[in-house]
Amino acid sequence: MLQQSGELKRHFQWGWMACRVRAACLWSRWCVLACFACLAGTGDHSLGFSVKPHAQYLAVAVSDRYRDSLNELALSELESSGFRNIDFADGRWYFDAGLRLSDARALAAIKHVASIRAIALCANLSTAKDPLSARELALRVDEAAKWKATLKELTATRRCSPSTLRVVSRRSLPAGLEQELEKLLVRRFGWRRQVRGRKADITIHLCARGGMLHVEVPLLYQEKAVLGGGLPRPGLGHVEAWACARSLQIESGDLVLDPMCGKGTLLAEAAVWWPSANFVGCDVDKDQLDCCRSNFEWLQREVSLYHTDATKMGGIPFQDGSVDKVLVAPPWNRQYRIQGDPEVFYCSMFKEILRVLHPAGRLVFLGASGKTIHKLEVALRNAQKEHRCFRIVSKRSFFLTRSVTGVMAVAENTPCENSEGAGWKALPWEGQAPENGRDLYNHWRHLRALAFPELRPASEPIRDDNETLRHRLPKRFLVLVTVLLGLAAFRRQVL
Ligand SMILES: C[S@@+](CC[C@H](N)C(=O)[O-])C[C@H]1O[C@@H](n2cnc3c(N)ncnc32)[C@H](O)[C@@H]1O
Repeated sequence: MLQQSGELKRHFQWGWMACRVRAACLWSRWCVLACFACLAGTGDHSLGFSVKPHAQYLAVAVSDRYRDSLNELALSELESSGFRNIDFADGRWYFDAGLRLSDARALAAIKHVASIRAIALCANLSTAKDPLSARELALRVDEAAKWKATLKELTATRRCSPSTLRVVSRRSLPAGLEQELEKLLVRRFGWRRQVRGRKADITIHLCARGGMLHVEVPLLYQEKAVLGGGLPRPGLGHVEAWACARSLQIESGDLVLDPMCGKGTLLAEAAVWWPSANFVGCDVDKDQLDCCRSNFEWLQREVSLYHTDATKMGGIPFQDGSVDKVLVAPPWNRQYRIQGDPEVFYCSMFKEILRVLHPAGRLVFLGASGKTIHKLEVALRNAQKEHRCFRIVSKRSFFLTRSVTGVMAVAENTPCENSEGAGWKALPWEGQAPENGRDLYNHWRHLRALAFPELRPASEPIRDDNETLRHRLPKRFLVLVTVLLGLAAFRRQVL
């Protein structure tokens, strides 16, 4: 009996030993596999989703061309801010944080990019035998993304934490992925899903490129109007419009008028760069005024518009000498026809402009080279009143389109005796500028870009605590009322 129990004990010991050896083997095999997975970029290839090492940030470049002068400005900003491993691909800058204390402050020094995003995850989807379902992919993305670090960056750039979210993705990803990921993130962080058409505090972008999935969280962005173009009702190019507005020398509080504003592209550009001035537009064409209004709505800038004939005496609804700066591109009798004699039209226009323009004011007008600018010059001379002598102080030709050379003329109130008018010369703010053509355009574009403001936080500041309370109040109030009503009903039944 004793012998039998001794044997049993020995068998049991051997079995236990074998189990431990087997477990150790499995454990070491798992460790080796895990090490290989780490070295190869980690992840479970059989599941068609493997996490890849990736850059910390990406910045959407202003131009796809690496050699663009605005991209050169961006590169020097990235380098001087201490970012590392800077790489340009597909119109995007990829980079890592350097040895700095604050990434948020270093990121704020970058101005010449469209936006900056933190990369929360980079995964390889090309190993999948069968494509993952939206639910499976969302689960893996949720598990693998560096949410904590990304959120820290987001709060550092906006100085407050998000409470609403949206996930957006390109069409090449499984349908329903956004909703699945939104659900998981709502559960993970307690945020609310933002309704369609409203801006969320945090927008997560899922971008698929060449079998790779990027999970990107926008941190900062440059205003679209500053980048240029994009007006819903475009007209004159933004660089040329900026050059005209720059020549006006707008100061804070100035009243700036375009008496024939059309779609308002000149005024719009002035409003983007000199927002502390007041802007007024007039036009005979109501449709043009509507276009101007929608351009300003898009810009989120203020403008006062008047439907009026600016060639009539008193047509511009302002008192004599009450306008500080006038910017005008009158019709050249091409796209916009002139009723009657152009010389008479221009002369009446200048008379009305000079009536409202302050004696110390400035006038910038745009004509086409050749006959039009000549007629405009003659008209300005003929429109002068006694004691007032607005003369052209500088005149600049530039390519408006491939076939049209525009001329910008700057006029000031100067003593009549020494005012024979200016020849063709560079504008004072231009510095060493090329003569004309594409080089001049690039020179102006570069000067405009030097004034880019700092990037803005990626979404509107989060509502303050009072607002959050206001938002939650109706729900809580309803709960309270329901409970009270229930109690009242219960009491009535009991008593
Ligand atoms: C070349 S467009 C102006 C472009 C505009 N400055 C811009 O920035 O897009 C000329 C405009 O002058 C307007 N116009 C023509 N005759 C006018 C008049 N007598 N009074 C006011 N506006 C007039 C036309 O309706 C047209 O919109």
